[in-house]
This record gives sequence, structure tokens and C-alpha cells, in this order.
Amino acid sequence: MSPVYRSFAKINLHLQVLGRRADGYHELRTVFQTIDLHDRIGLELTPGGEVRLRVTAGDVPEGEDNLAVRAARAFLDRWAPGQGVAMTLEKRIPVGGGLGGGSSNAATVLLALRRLLGRPGSVWELWPVARKLGADVPYFLWGGTALGFGRGDEIVPLPDLEEVDLALVLPPEHVSTPAIFAKVRNLTAEPLALTIVALATGGVGGDPADIEGWNDLQPVAFDLFPALRRAYDEMLAAGARETRLSGTGAALFALLPRPLDLRRLRRELSAGATALACRTLSRRSLARDGAGLWG
Ligand code: C5P
Repeated sequence: MSPVYRSFAKINLHLQVLGRRADGYHELRTVFQTIDLHDRIGLELTPGGEVRLRVTAGDVPEGEDNLAVRAARAFLDRWAPGQGVAMTLEKRIPVGGGLGGGSSNAATVLLALRRLLGRPGSVWELWPVARKLGADVPYFLWGGTALGFGRGDEIVPLPDLEEVDLALVLPPEHVSTPAIFAKVRNLTAEPLALTIVALATGGVGGDPADIEGWNDLQPVAFDLFPALRRAYDEMLAAGARETRLSGTGAALFALLPRPLDLRRLRRELSAGATALACRTLSRRSLARDGAGLWG
């Protein structure tokens, strides 16, 4: 039987935009956090060098437009020319949510092929391959709690935080990531939050809510896509705390005081918005339950 791996989503506990770079991207400081929402990817090695993908759930492309296909091709070209792979993808992570689903799939394929082919190359060697695929892909090679610099592709793993429940809300809106980045005007003048420095040096243990993060893209996204601001206001009305946008959205999350009252939240939300309960995942959990891909 071919192995099936889970490919987890992320949220951004914190996201600062420092400025525009010469390459057109933006310089970020962000804290990524894995959550337990996941897709499933099956991989079977095949002879003949062909890369195939069959999507068994969800509405995503099966060809070169899918990052999982590009990741498989990049890995095999570099480390196993002539080797082929047949993949299945069960898509559960909402597309266009700022949850990194496509990037996670790409990193999972890189890690899984490395494992299936007897681990040629270290995880560090996957980094340049990952960042060529997309700015968010490298983070998923490590997962857990991690600081992202540069385009978000330079990764410093941080010590694990406690695993906590959170509510995820998806407003019925298709956001445009380039449009949001293009409109960022009020660049942050803040230094890295003290709590994040403390986190990196082991001075903070504990609750992700203690990071007191924010997202510089949130006001821009709210102006461009009013359904996001509406969902945010509705979350607050339902008692949500530590509520913010993940990446460029459209997903919003709340690190709620427990217990999570999902029914109240759903009553509050406008038609078309969905809410689900998730939990953050530490690197320790990924190492234990990630089928050998992490750690
Ligand atoms: O790397 P990715 O394809 O996910 O980025 C999508 C778009 O988001 C880029 O084309 C760019 O407009 C914007 N972006 C940015 N700065 C970043 C990451 C993304 O401006 N650090």
C-alpha cells in the first residue's frame, strides 16, 4: 500500500511588513504556527520519470499549476532523475485562505519523496528547492512555531508553544494576495515584539495568545475586502479574543478563551461564512505524529 501523509495548514500568529524589496516582494517578519487542519497526500514511486497527480477531493488543478506537481518534479530532477511518482491529493484546507495549503502540499511532497527514496540530501538541502517554489514553502519543511524573515522564506524554528484550541473563520471572499501587498502603505516602524525575542530565547513559555501579535496586512485587506472586516466584527461580537487575519486572508482566526463556543460564533456570522474548530500543533507533535516526515 502506498503511504499517505498529512499536509498541515498554518496561521500567522504575527506578521510585520518592513518594506518593499528590490525584487518586488516585501520584507517580512512573521511568526508561523502549524494547525491540525490538513490535506492528505498519497505517493507511490513509479518507473519512467512521470509525475502524476489525481485530486480525490477539492477543486484544485491536477497539472503543472499545482505546486505539489512542481515540487515532485523539482525533487526528482535534482535527486532521482528517471524516477516517477503517482500522487493523490485529498484537499481539505480551504484554497485562498492564507492558510498555506498549496505551499504545505509542496513541502510535504519534498519531505515524503526524500523519505521514500532513502533520504538523499538533508532537510537544509531542500530549502533552496522549496523557496523557488514559493515564499511560504520553506516554513513547512520545519513546521511548528517558527520565525520567517526575508520574503517569509528564511526560517528560524522557535521553541514549541502550548497547543491551544482556536476558531477559524472563512468569509465568502476571494482575496488577491498581490493586490493586498501592493496597497500596504503604513509600513511598520516597530521593532520585533519583545515577546517574540523572549520566545526565541526561551524566556516565554506558554500560550500563543501571549505573543500579542498583529498583522500589518489586516487593515489593507479589510479596506479592499469588506466581508473580512464584517467577519472580524462578528467574531468579536461572539466573544472571540486575539482575533486576526492569517497572511493575506481570507481566513481569520481567534485564539479564544476556552471553551470554544462554536455554536455562538456560527449564529453571529453572516450567510456564506464558515467556522471550524482547530488546534495548534507543535513541532514535538509533528515529530511524533507526522509519519516520520518531521524531526
Ligand atoms: O510567493 P507567492 O507566490 O506566494 O507570493 C504571491 C504574491 O504575494 C507575490 O507575487 C507578491 O505580489 C506578494 N508577496 C510579497 N511579499 C512577500 C510575499 C508575497 O509582495 N514576502
